[in-house]
Amino acid sequence: MKTRTLLLTSLILMAFVTIWSCSNNEIDPDPEVNAMSRDSLNVSRYSRGWVHYAQVTKNGNYFRRMFIDSGSAAVVSNTAEIPNEALFAMETWFGHEQSTVFIRQRNSQWQSGSFSPGNPSYSVATQNSCNSCHSRAASTDFTFTKPLLVKALQKRQVQFVQCNQDSFNPCDLSVYLGN
Ligand code: HEC
Repeated sequence: MKTRTLLLTSLILMAFVTIWSCSNNEIDPDPEVNAMSRDSLNVSRYSRGWVHYAQVTKNGNYFRRMFIDSGSAAVVSNTAEIPNEALFAMETWFGHEQSTVFIRQRNSQWQSGSFSPGNPSYSVATQNSCNSCHSRAASTDFTFTKPLLVKALQKRQVQFVQCNQDSFNPCDLSVYLGN
């Protein structure tokens, strides 16, 4: 009797583990193997609508995904200019683990913020630490990835690039021109 109970318990446990690992696979964040493909630019995230335009892959299984709010994406499509109040979001991923979401908004000057994925917050403020590094991308409106944005909107495809740098370190600026 005891053995049967034990057997039954382990069978139930195994079933749970199988279901858990399957449902885990369904949220694979890697767009190369995920349904969120190169062709689907419009996504809904953090209770807003975005255009997902680029992924930058760096050293150590680390990658960053770039988004712009849908309204501003429409303006960029028509003018190739980033309008006032445009909001950018950048997800950071270590393999399958998502970390902080960084945001930048073009107000009278660029303002910055960040939040954890489960707790979106869109408050921004002037942050010199962000601005000083982004000033290297002055020729592209203080965003590194504007060329990838313009290209993604023209081709209607998410742009994928990579370089051998660690997390925050900029790639050679030519990388952001795309392939
Ligand atoms: C040491 C340099 C550096 C610092 C500091 C930095 N960034 Fe960036 N940021 C980058 C680079 C480089 C990219 C382009 C993607 C890549 O190569 O990682 C980028 C891209 C972005 C993007 C996507 C739009 C764009 O500009 O291409 C956002 C949003 C962003 N950063 C937000 C922030 C915020 C918010 C801060 C401050 C908390 C910050 N960044 C600080 C280097 C930096």
